[in-house]
Amino acid sequence: MKPASASPDRYAVIGDPVEHSLSPHIHAVFAASAGQRMTYGRERVRAGELAAWIEAFGAGGGRGCNVTLPLKEEALAAVDRVSARARSAGAANTLWRDVAGHWCADNTDGIGLLRDLTVNLGWRIAGSRVLLLGAGGAARGVIGPLLDAGVANIDILNRTPARAQAVVRAFPRAGSRLAVLVPDQSLPAPVDLVLNATSAGLSGALPEWPPGLFSSDRRPRCYDLLYGQKGEVWQTAARAAGALAVSDGLGMLVEQAAAAFWLWRGLWPDTARVLAELRAG
Ligand code: ATR
Repeated sequence: MKPASASPDRYAVIGDPVEHSLSPHIHAVFAASAGQRMTYGRERVRAGELAAWIEAFGAGGGRGCNVTLPLKEEALAAVDRVSARARSAGAANTLWRDVAGHWCADNTDGIGLLRDLTVNLGWRIAGSRVLLLGAGGAARGVIGPLLDAGVANIDILNRTPARAQAVVRAFPRAGSRLAVLVPDQSLPAPVDLVLNATSAGLSGALPEWPPGLFSSDRRPRCYDLLYGQKGEVWQTAARAAGALAVSDGLGMLVEQAAAAFWLWRGLWPDTARVLAELRAG
C-alpha cells in the first residue's frame, strides 16, 4: 500500500485536439465524490506519438489515460494487452498499467452508451430493432455491446456502403442480426431506435436516413452520439420529423468515463450528479 504522503495517482486524457475535453472535469468530480486521491490532466499527443508518450508517462508514475481522436486505433498497437471488446471495436478509449507493469487497453464507449440508454433514459433496448447511421470507429464501438444487450437486429446505413459492409464482416457472430442498408433503400420493418454515429454534425451536415423512417405508427427514438452544438442539426431534424424521443450523447460521455474510472479505481462513481451539472451548463 502507498504511504499517505505519496503523490496522488496520475491520469490524463490525450489526443489532438484535446483542449475542449470535458474528461478532466468529469474525473475530478468522480474522484472527489469517491474520495480518491488522484490527478487527471490533459495533454496534446499527435498521431504516431502514442507509444512513446505512454512509455514516458508510465516511467513518470502515470497509471492510466483516456485516449481520444486521432489515437483510438493506434492505442491497440501501443499496448501489451487488448480487451476483446476493444479488439472487436477496432479502437480503445481507456488505457492503464496493471500491477505487473503491462499497459492494457479497453473500450468503454459501448458500455457508456448502453448505460445512458437503459439507466439514464430508461429506454428498452432488448428486442429493439436498431438503425445505425455511420460505419466509422464510433459506430463499430457500439455494435458489440448492442448485440450483447439483446437487440433484435441492427441495420447499418452509411454514405459509403462498402464501409458498412466491412463493419458487418467484422462481426461474424452477429449473423443475420447485422445487415447493410444502402442509401435510398426503404427499411424492411419499422425501427425502434436510431443511433447517429456519423461525424456529419462536425461540419453542420445532416446524414441521410431511409425513406419512410418516421412514417410508421411505431415512431423511433433517436440518439445522437454527439453532444453540444455538434449534435444540434441532427437532433433538431429528428424532433421535427416526429421522433418519439431525442437525446444527445452527453450521458454516454459521462458513463464511458465512469466505466474507465471503474477499471482504474474499482469503484463506480455517481454519474447523475455530474450529468445534471453539465446539463445545467
Ligand atoms: P468516427 O471515429 O467518429 O466514427 P470516422 O471513422 O471518420 O469517425 O467515421 C465518420 C462516419 O461519419 C463515417 O461513417 C462517415 O461516412 P463515410 O464512411 O461515407 O465517410 C460519416 N460521415 C461523415 N460526414 C458525413 C456526412 N456529411 N454525411 C453522412 N455521413 C457522414
